[in-house]
Amino acid sequence: MLKVIRVVHKLIWLATDSIKLKIHFILNYAFGAVQGALMFFTPFALSEMVKSISQADNQKILYWFWMLVAMTVGLALSKFIVRFFFEYLSRIIPIKLKEKYYEKIYQQTYTWHTNNSVGYFLSIINDVSRIMRTWLWAMNFSYIPSLVFSIVFFIYTYIKSPYLFLYLFVGMAVFVILTRVFYTKRIYYTNETVQSDNNFNKIYTDFTYNVRSVKKMNLIHFVMNTLHNFSAVSFSNNRRLMRYNAKQWGFTELFLSGLFLIPTGFFIYQYLMTGQNIDLVIMIIAIQGNIQNIGREFMHLMTELADNKTHIDILEKHLEDLQGNANSKHTKHIKKWNKIVFDNMFFQFKMDNTKFKSCIQHIEIKRGDHIAIVGASGTGKSTFLNLLTRQLEPLSGSIKIDNIDYKDVADDFFNKNLTYISQDVELFNLSLYENITLGHKVKKQELDRILSGCCLTDLIAKNNNNMNLYIGEKGIKVSGGERQRINLARGLILNREILVLDEITANLDPKTTKKIWEFIFKEYKDKTIIAISHTPELLNHVNKVIEFNNGCGIIKTK
Ligand SMILES: Nc1ncnc2c1ncn2[C@@H]1O[C@H](COP(=O)(O)OP(=O)(O)OP(=O)(O)O)[C@@H](O)[C@H]1O
Ligand SMILES: [Mg+2]
Repeated sequence: MLKVIRVVHKLIWLATDSIKLKIHFILNYAFGAVQGALMFFTPFALSEMVKSISQADNQKILYWFWMLVAMTVGLALSKFIVRFFFEYLSRIIPIKLKEKYYEKIYQQTYTWHTNNSVGYFLSIINDVSRIMRTWLWAMNFSYIPSLVFSIVFFIYTYIKSPYLFLYLFVGMAVFVILTRVFYTKRIYYTNETVQSDNNFNKIYTDFTYNVRSVKKMNLIHFVMNTLHNFSAVSFSNNRRLMRYNAKQWGFTELFLSGLFLIPTGFFIYQYLMTGQNIDLVIMIIAIQGNIQNIGREFMHLMTELADNKTHIDILEKHLEDLQGNANSKHTKHIKKWNKIVFDNMFFQFKMDNTKFKSCIQHIEIKRGDHIAIVGASGTGKSTFLNLLTRQLEPLSGSIKIDNIDYKDVADDFFNKNLTYISQDVELFNLSLYENITLGHKVKKQELDRILSGCCLTDLIAKNNNNMNLYIGEKGIKVSGGERQRINLARGLILNREILVLDEITANLDPKTTKKIWEFIFKEYKDKTIIAISHTPELLNHVNKVIEFNNGCGIIKTK
């Protein structure tokens, strides 16, 4: 239980890192506590007032009357404030949590990204943030008020009758121990079911993200069969869990009712007969509701949190790399560079069974070089660019920039000097303008120059010169070739020192291809350009060629 609370608090703290949010959060707890105390004292004031009426003590009646009014107003006010904070926090916290996890995922290495499915993490993060809402709801409206109510009640009971206190206290202790036992078993079941649900969700997210390919290739039967197999496992596990839950609920309800009905009957018999302690009776009846409330919320929370905890464990376990791959070792800043040298470099993808090996004995890339990379498909050209741009790290040998090992080079060298236009075009469901400028300020004249150089003017004219139209999920509303040119334009806008271009003209007709290469080598001739292309056109513009064969690259003089 404590572990679960710790996890939740860690998450809340992860999300509420600003002082303002933390204060809101603490105030929320504080007003919940006020509400709980007032929930106790209101019936108490009522019973005192009833007592004074029976004693015909006018002064006391008036006193308790006003107390009652004040408490009722206080109760309404604290409920309002708690509600207010709930509405606020239950929206902000899940959103902040998503932001934080996005940042964490972003910071992972490229290898991590290739080994994990990001869509699946997205679904886990969504689950975690959804459950945070449930947790906040329970905390605000049941857990804190009922808990404070119960504490006040036990103090009061102790003052009234130590025996009653002892009875209820032991009862509570048994209850807590029992729920703990249930909980441990519950966690076991939940871990198992969440795991199988996750396997289902993993494959489901993947198929969903690729639904268009499924449709194009008419793979529905294959997809449905795979989904069905995964869902069958999930379903049988869930059924087992449900059966266990039902038994557990029945027993807890019975136990809690017994726990409070017995002392209530006992005290009604002992005290009410004598006309005394009406307050205590009212309170015992109220406490039954409250303790049951706590019990119910407690169980509910544990169920939700057990799910949540498994999700968080999965997330955190995969994100552990984050701490392992501390970026802090990248400390050496490079102002001006002259050459990048690969020496006896060897690389292999770790976890897959692929036999692919990448090796480079010696390659030098000088500042200002224009290099073409050629070779058949799958020979390791893109892998080379990933190594060059430090998305991947070699297993042995070295990549150095002016004698400084890549491992030590500070991130800002890559961030400031490098434009990597990769083969996978990833467009966002934003406007054409946003997709191209990606938040960078760019002068109209400069933008027009690049748009025309990338042969995008026609596309914009087609859209009535409106660059603010959204281009659909993954840029579905633009053609394959257009997508590629948008990708190129967004890279060129950055105007950086080294251009790394992976098959930027693969989907273009020969005329456009020629135009684009001419534009790049004319307008960016002072930059270092390293480009992969199957088109012979590229060879007209470069001073060096690197040829790849079975993962190994060698320099070929032209
Ligand atoms: N993340 C990965 N995990 C395991 N293997 C990979 C991964 N990425 C690529 N490979 C393998 O490495 C080999 C080289 O891939 P790479 O993308 O470098 O080829 P390429 O020369 O760029 O081919 P193309 O011309 O088709 O783009 C391929 O056989 C591929 O299966
Ligand atoms: Mg490639």
